[in-house]
Amino acid sequence: MRRKLIAGNWKMNLLRGEGVALATALADRLAEGAGCDVLVCPPATAVAAVADAVAERGLLVGGQDCHAADSGAHTGDISAAMLADLGCTHVIVGHSERRQAHGETDAQVADKARAAHRAGLTAIICIGETEEERLAGRALEVCAAQIEGSVPETATAGTTVIAYEPVWAIGTGRTPTVQDVAEMHAHIRRALAERLDAAQANTIRILYGGSMKASNAAELLAITDVDGGLVGGASLKAEEFWRIVQAARG
Ligand code: PGA
Repeated sequence: MRRKLIAGNWKMNLLRGEGVALATALADRLAEGAGCDVLVCPPATAVAAVADAVAERGLLVGGQDCHAADSGAHTGDISAAMLADLGCTHVIVGHSERRQAHGETDAQVADKARAAHRAGLTAIICIGETEEERLAGRALEVCAAQIEGSVPETATAGTTVIAYEPVWAIGTGRTPTVQDVAEMHAHIRRALAERLDAAQANTIRILYGGSMKASNAAELLAITDVDGGLVGGASLKAEEFWRIVQAARG
């Protein structure tokens, strides 16, 4: 039985005070119990304040990226250990916005995931096809190749979460059909079985991301092999995000 995970990716939004207010509002609701894991990933500048504000309150905190190295001459970068030091339990790696805008390759994403594991963090490894790739009928093949290249061979359910985020669905209000999501998540699980082994593949959580919101969350989260959501825009308002958490409870 895979416990669902609802993760908010705040991206480059919210100043510290705003982030603390949002996280505190979520922690207040969490006190009544969620029935799933709930994670927020603030921008790096707000991680410490948010983690301090919700410490011991059940709301998990994560980073949005980390460097592949443990330390060194990497101006502007942040190590996984630095995130762990602030109270993070998770870090997103290989988000398509980083793959596209910063040219991150599968191999670099795998190295970041390894760095996260060394620091004791769970890596949320993002994959997903572009619209061009889907239209060309290559979505399944592209995502299987990303699993092969981005997931360290040592990944386990305890250290790794996969987020399937079709690039064309991110921030666009468009989502794949239920059938397409079901087909892709089953395919990703098969690719994980090939990359790792059947036992890990069956227990690793696979999130769906891309325009998930309160109004479509129940339908997406009910799909077999969808073990939660990675939520961008709809994670910036406590009420909207909480309705997605509630949808995960079923
Ligand atoms: P979105 O973003 O929910 O705003 O589409 C999701 C993501 O990029 O993680």
